[in-house]
Amino acid sequence: MTDAPNPKPGILDIAPYVGGKSKIDGIAEPMKLSSNENMLGAGEKARAAYEAAVRNIHIYPDGRATKLRAAVAEHHGLEPDRLIFGNGSDEVFALLNQTYLTAGDNIVSGQYGFLAYRISALANQASVRSAPEPDYKATPEALLAEVDERTRIVYVSSPSNPTGSYNTPEEIRALHAALPGDVLLVIDEAYAEYVTEPDWETSFGLARDSENIVVTRTFSKIHGLGGLRIGFGYAPLKVCEAVDRIRLPFNVSVPGIEAAVAALGDEAHQIASRELIHSWRPRLTQAIRGFGFDVLPSAGNFVLVRFRDPAHAAAANDHLNTRGIIVRPVGGYGLPECLRITVGTEDQNRAVIDALSEFAAADGTGRKA
Ligand SMILES: Cc1ncc(COP(=O)(O)O)c(C=O)c1O
Repeated sequence: MTDAPNPKPGILDIAPYVGGKSKIDGIAEPMKLSSNENMLGAGEKARAAYEAAVRNIHIYPDGRATKLRAAVAEHHGLEPDRLIFGNGSDEVFALLNQTYLTAGDNIVSGQYGFLAYRISALANQASVRSAPEPDYKATPEALLAEVDERTRIVYVSSPSNPTGSYNTPEEIRALHAALPGDVLLVIDEAYAEYVTEPDWETSFGLARDSENIVVTRTFSKIHGLGGLRIGFGYAPLKVCEAVDRIRLPFNVSVPGIEAAVAALGDEAHQIASRELIHSWRPRLTQAIRGFGFDVLPSAGNFVLVRFRDPAHAAAANDHLNTRGIIVRPVGGYGLPECLRITVGTEDQNRAVIDALSEFAAADGTGRKA
């Protein structure tokens, strides 16, 4: 017994989330390629809407985000009442966990699943069951094998971060079909807009007729609004109603709502953002493979590079840092031999390629095929 306040059981067992590093000593403006942000920035329309919203920042936001609700519903062909808005999709995961998990419950996700699902699960005294991903991909079989009578939520990200893998509609349907109806299936589509693979499709259609599927999207990636924190979930009405009881009423801000609405209407910026990734993801992949390093196939706006071992990855990371480039070590995901690199602008990608080329030449240990 101490006199200091004690956090609830489980809280101090949570490893603090470590965000993408943004500074390198001695380098004034490093290239930050560590958080899968949109390196083109926000579009002109979103910026203008954000600036115009300054006039109204003394007013509390509309708690239902009605304007954004209507815009998202229209853009994606969804029913407005079935949307949950959050301070980033991270908050949507936290709200779902808070709504559905009690002590002793569990969530299931892939071994390399996005860490945000886990943190709030643990905060609700639930545990996390991880399905093995020997091929860097969460399969329906492996996820289902982890589901037990205390499982309340299964999280799948497609495309997945940090691996870049994705699930086909057949896999998602098989997973959903085998899940008990009282288990929520959350399909995180944060990187949906970057997918080129013909055998991927959004799960909005599957979710429409289900009572236990939530599909999440974010404004942080293709729309370039990571700093404004807006995401949403498309959920069954009953889920929306339950979540709305605990959602803080003003969780999405006035400028956030305005900028997100404008971003949805800025098709040119969405196309430019997508094309940047579509043209550079394969070039970056090929160039890095050419230096002898493994690069996993990616459906997102990033690539995962696999080095010989953790020390080799750390040396590559240090070298990139000396060139003013910040990428993401992913030891926290159990992948200490890998670095995740956001696909950036042409100049940024060329800088990454040059730096890794130097590293491979100096190190001489890139795994040549
Ligand atoms: C798989 C995945 N889901 C969700 C998010 C979070 O998005 P938001 O910025 O909307 O919280 C990220 C961000 O990196 C992500 O990688």
